[in-house]
Amino acid sequence: MTDHDPFRGANDGIRDAVQAFYDQHPYPPPVDDLEGYRRRWQDDGRRRADFHLHWPAKAYRTDVQVLVAGCGTSQAAKHALRQPASHVVGIDLSATSVRRSEALKRKYSLANLEVYQLPVERAGELGRRFDKVVCTGVLHHLPAPMEGLRALRAVLQPDGAMHLMVYAAYGRIGVYMLQEYCRRLGIGHSGKEIRDLAATLTALPRHHPLARLLGESPDFQRSDALADALLNPQDRAYSVPQLFELIEGCGLRFGRWIRQAPYLAHCGRLAATPHAARLATLPPREQYAAVELFRGTILRHSLTAYRDDIPDANPLPHFTADGWLDYVPIRLPETICLQERLPPGAAAVLIHQGHTDRDLFLPIDQEQRRWYDAIDGRHTIGEILGSVAAPGGRSRHHARARGFFERLWCWDQVLFDASGGSGEAEGQPV
Ligand SMILES: C[S@@+](CC[C@H](N)C(=O)[O-])C[C@H]1O[C@@H](n2cnc3c(N)ncnc32)[C@H](O)[C@@H]1O
Repeated sequence: MTDHDPFRGANDGIRDAVQAFYDQHPYPPPVDDLEGYRRRWQDDGRRRADFHLHWPAKAYRTDVQVLVAGCGTSQAAKHALRQPASHVVGIDLSATSVRRSEALKRKYSLANLEVYQLPVERAGELGRRFDKVVCTGVLHHLPAPMEGLRALRAVLQPDGAMHLMVYAAYGRIGVYMLQEYCRRLGIGHSGKEIRDLAATLTALPRHHPLARLLGESPDFQRSDALADALLNPQDRAYSVPQLFELIEGCGLRFGRWIRQAPYLAHCGRLAATPHAARLATLPPREQYAAVELFRGTILRHSLTAYRDDIPDANPLPHFTADGWLDYVPIRLPETICLQERLPPGAAAVLIHQGHTDRDLFLPIDQEQRRWYDAIDGRHTIGEILGSVAAPGGRSRHHARARGFFERLWCWDQVLFDASGGSGEAEGQPV
């Protein structure tokens, strides 16, 4: 990489402050041991689910070119470890993060990993294109997030996928109140100031908007996390409409939420309110915006985005034609099937352990339970239906099954490998 920075200008002071902050307080905290992580990712189902999350209509591949932009201390190394056949490039502004990533590369002999100290805004200097760009927890720390995202868009392959995460505005209101409080007091990020802040927060009123996060989120239990959240020199957040403005302003189109149930009006408690029918008439992106306001607790937005100049690339699964029978459902590793304390008439309740909202559970009946049990990540829905008895005739059976598999997808229970079907998958209107 060259030392010349074409972006030196008005935003330099902010970028320098962010770099100094992360050099001193690398986040997430550095880790030395990735054995548990490696073991978890040896599960083929987990790897296939991760692939089809971003590319439902493509045949599964393991040799993917990945850019982890703003990789922090371990994210690039983790990607290299979990995808040995892929090539991973990690870039970060902070020298400490790069050093930590290099240490993991040596420890785990990650020949498929390269790490550079390079700002996201200069990703073009890498001189290559990537199938997948991962940028989580970074854009909101940039002085000009659009400039950074455009630079990443420019290195994305035409049919590539971008995995983004930015902070969400409403769920973090308490964080921004305390950031402002710290600014007014001129609190810096020395060890003593962070300890004093942690001690002061123990006196925070029980109903303060930050109190729930302090109590519930493991992220806020540690002093380095507290510094990252409350003393970060640059941090902004996005509502759903602002997020769509960001990605569409950078030549990208929304694909899907990484976990979609929390954004869907027909999942959870809202579906049983007098507003359900009114919400259902809204276009999807309006529903997402309304549900974010209604829930009030979404802390971050994680999504997949694609280039907007190739609208046919990366179609999403859909259930309007017969193609869905050829989809292969793959269970998500974070899901569990409960059989105790069931609601009346339910044979089981399906839960995604990553959902923090308690209303996001899916009761299923006996018939659905048989279909669910037959999901093995290899057989198509058509094959699953063929292997289970069909009381009431084929077409009624199919109509019930179609609704069920679509619900499993909406509730984040399964992903689909839709590559082997009729090729009819199409994009969801946003
Ligand atoms: C909260 S950490 C997230 C790390 C990682 N993406 C993850 O999810 O674990 C934010 C990272 O972004 C990096 N960063 C901030 N601004 C950046 C920029 N302009 N270019 C590259 N990296 C940047 C910081 O140094 C830090 O390592």
